Amino acid sequence: MRKPKPNESIFKTRLSKLLRTKKLGKSIYVFNELDSTQDYANSLPNNESLHGTIVIARKQNMGKGRIGRTWISPEGGLWMSIIIIPDFSIADIIFTQFIGSLAVADAVFENTKINCKLMWPNDILINEKKVCGILTDVNAENEIKKIVLGIGLNANIESSSINNYLTDDNLKATTIREEYGNDIDLIILINSILERMEYYYDNFLSCGNTLEIVDRWKEKSDMFGKKAIVYDGNQQVMGEIIDLDQNGAMLMKLSDTSIRKIIYYNNVSLH
Ligand code: BTN
Repeated sequence: MRKPKPNESIFKTRLSKLLRTKKLGKSIYVFNELDSTQDYANSLPNNESLHGTIVIARKQNMGKGRIGRTWISPEGGLWMSIIIIPDFSIADIIFTQFIGSLAVADAVFENTKINCKLMWPNDILINEKKVCGILTDVNAENEIKKIVLGIGLNANIESSSINNYLTDDNLKATTIREEYGNDIDLIILINSILERMEYYYDNFLSCGNTLEIVDRWKEKSDMFGKKAIVYDGNQQVMGEIIDLDQNGAMLMKLSDTSIRKIIYYNNVSLH
């Protein structure tokens, strides 16, 4: 593993001093530049001791988005991957995405008073534009599994530098700089995200209460009642989004009034 350059270690020292979390951020890697924090975290062993490790790059050269897309990641954004060694069934994996997006929305509110809206399964919007995306990779090797949760938050950058890639998503990009009118301290923001994530994660593990997470997620979303097109595999489904069930699946009412359950990892566009 290469030795960090000086400004990477200043970043790391400031963050370590600030963090009050028990597990998340216990081990921190910071790079000035990396192809992808997700690839780096995926390449680390599936080892229980790595639970809570975070990998941050000031800039990514080959950032990865969902469904094989590129994630444009210039300097100024928050590009971070978090390793989770799950203590729960892999069927509950969608909750790590919910926990991640709730934590980001809470942290953005804490630091800017901006209310983000959540879009299923894992987008975070401000004024109907995408400010953050979350990518989940699952690594399974023998019995030990590792989840890598990648957070890409357009913080102190211009949306003009990233908008092109989003054409397929029917969404435009925005940034904290543009919505808040100011830059935000990335270290303080990371600290808030990790604190909120640990809070939701511990809560989820201790009472297994997925309903509370689903309810909180629903409060922060304005998707309900909207018409949407969902790509369920190759099949296009049109309908009205009516609810999430307790397993995190999205429920849609189709034109024939039947209810269709959309399981995790479909692509949604609102209309
Ligand atoms: C999406 O397509 O909405 C998810 C984007 C996730 C981007 C983040 S940035 C940090 C981590 N490293 C990557 O290469 N991708 C994720």
